[in-house]
Amino acid sequence: MKKILTGLQPSGNLTLGNYIGAIRQMVRLQEEYESIIFVADLHAITVAQNPSELRKNIRSLIAIYLASGIDPKKNTIFIQSENIYHANMSWLLECLTPYGELGRMTQFKDKSSKHQNFGAGLLTYPVLMASDILLYDADYVPTGIDQKQHVELARNIAERVNKKYGEIFKIPEPLIPETGAKICDLVNPTKKMSKSDENPKGVIYLLDSDDVIRKKIMGATTDSETVIKYDIENKPGISNLINIYNSLTGISIKEIEEKYKDSNYGTFKKDVADLVIETLKPIKEKYQELINSKEIDKILDEGALKTSEIAKKKYLLLKDKMGLGR
Ligand code: TYM
Repeated sequence: MKKILTGLQPSGNLTLGNYIGAIRQMVRLQEEYESIIFVADLHAITVAQNPSELRKNIRSLIAIYLASGIDPKKNTIFIQSENIYHANMSWLLECLTPYGELGRMTQFKDKSSKHQNFGAGLLTYPVLMASDILLYDADYVPTGIDQKQHVELARNIAERVNKKYGEIFKIPEPLIPETGAKICDLVNPTKKMSKSDENPKGVIYLLDSDDVIRKKIMGATTDSETVIKYDIENKPGISNLINIYNSLTGISIKEIEEKYKDSNYGTFKKDVADLVIETLKPIKEKYQELINSKEIDKILDEGALKTSEIAKKKYLLLKDKMGLGR
């Protein structure tokens, strides 16, 4: 059975972009693949975090996974820092990765320009991500478009290591959804919707109240025309809403344009708001039931144990090939 793996950072409230780009893909694919999903808490500390907030966000993310339909019977679910082999493997791979290759990563260039006095972990971040993927011989990595470059780096690292030390790693492939791979900010629709955005008006958080979701969508930036037409270049705002509608219903962009050809932006926005509210309602309800449940701890204990056993083997294999220890 082919294997899929993905992780999300517990760095704030999850967004509709995270849900559409990553979680929902995992929920769909869990029926056909052996599935691993984790909380990338080690990645989260590459920028400053408040410890008690971070701990809360980690648990919250697990509850969101489960509430969104990630089935613990079909998935191995764990917290990255509860499996020591991720950081261990990362060190080995860091020593095999050219410095220049990391400096060229788009996300590093972007984040390093926004944060002052950032730690070295921000640069080595994609190597830790490569470790996450390569430790488990994942075939596919479901993510949004923003992580594609990092998965490509993981492929490069794996190919380089295999060439030098023999067949150690499987070469993973990114799995980017055909639609919804980049949900954009509602206020500034040329940039991606991000959980770390300073302006929450443009970001739909999965746990936002119905009223807040409606206000944000009704207030979304659109152009001065009235035609509901998909045109990313000239009409990024309305195109983003069409994208959300299409991702959540599966109705094609052409059909959406046809359906709303005589409607104005207000009507369309109202329908998008209803749709998002309806989609998130059961997730929010389930989340409240789960957040304090003991079930979460049981799942995480099992996940840490199971993945540590698998990861240990891969780590020891490379460590041995590299001549470390006795
Ligand atoms: P993170 O936490 O930034 O995002 C989690 C997932 O959500 C996707 N995503 C989006 N998709 C569509 N539209 C958006 N606006 C949007 N924003 C985010 C991301 O592409 C991602 O799939 N480095 C990763 C976490 C990670 C990981 C891994 C992922 C660590 N190790 C191994 C896969 C495999 C990250 O920061 O994702």
